[in-house]
Amino acid sequence: MRRNDNAWRSLSDAEKNLVLKNNARHNQERPDYADPTLYQAGKSYDAVSPDPLDTKTKSFKEFLEENHPESVLEIGPGSGYLTKYIVEIESVKDYTAVDINKAFLDYLEPRLAKVKSKKHGFTYALLPGDINDLDLAGKTYDAIVFLSAVHHIPDRIKFFTVLGSLLNPGGKIYTQEPAHYIPRKLYLLRKFQHTYRRKEYWSNPDNYSTHHFCTLEEFEQIVAKLKDLQISNYYFYRINFPFPRLFKKLITKGLAISGKHPEPDGTFSTRSRKSIMRFFADNLNVQFKRIT
Ligand SMILES: C[S@@+](CC[C@H](N)C(=O)[O-])C[C@H]1O[C@@H](n2cnc3c(N)ncnc32)[C@H](O)[C@@H]1O
Repeated sequence: MRRNDNAWRSLSDAEKNLVLKNNARHNQERPDYADPTLYQAGKSYDAVSPDPLDTKTKSFKEFLEENHPESVLEIGPGSGYLTKYIVEIESVKDYTAVDINKAFLDYLEPRLAKVKSKKHGFTYALLPGDINDLDLAGKTYDAIVFLSAVHHIPDRIKFFTVLGSLLNPGGKIYTQEPAHYIPRKLYLLRKFQHTYRRKEYWSNPDNYSTHHFCTLEEFEQIVAKLKDLQISNYYFYRINFPFPRLFKKLITKGLAISGKHPEPDGTFSTRSRKSIMRFFADNLNVQFKRIT
């Protein structure tokens, strides 16, 4: 229930090591991670794009089109549903992916080879390993993207310190993550009630790993500690109110009167930090800029 940075800080070194060990195992062994064709029920590099695009994909495409990066580092591409949008953008000539799970990179390899054969000057590198430990040989990038990946990483100050050093001056970091606001906390309370509070669950050390969703507040705390990064944009989306249907209808009507309309999937979005709606967001997009 606590914010990730506060929870991580409160652990002893032995507890942190246990979590890191379990994270590495979890990211290899989860059945849909071991076999990329099972991931997201097959929503992979080969999936057909929805028309109209969902909010998450639309916002990502806009970022790529507005910033036209030449070199992109993607952390945790998984089965590459969003990777295809990166390599299809004309400006992208140099794509690198890092994933702790090599099965995902093996899955992407033939697809990227196909792009290389068609796109003049395009190169790519697929690097298996933990982003925190990897040596990228002094290479830097115009854009670093991680899409639903940071919630697997507990030490985010260390993570963003590494990312800052991998970014070209003026370069951008783009992240889309599940959010640690009201819908997530309600879900965790339900999980607590039927699973986490049971002794057979909490007494098993294998169950301690990181799946800790993100907040704008945590990202703000992180950049406040780093000299070279600032938050340049943010976006709260997939806002869904966990209320009975009638109450939900009334809220939707009220929002329509004030000029706010739902996205094609029926959920709302906001770019306003002051909006109470943001605390009902399921997902969060934050962009960072290197300022030195
Ligand atoms: C939830 S999946 C997201 C996949 C994909 N980006 C998407 O949006 O469909 C998280 C990805 O991050 C990778 N990952 C988790 N921890 C990592 C780490 N420390 N270093 C590199 N990759 C990591 C996982 O193997 C997986 O591919």
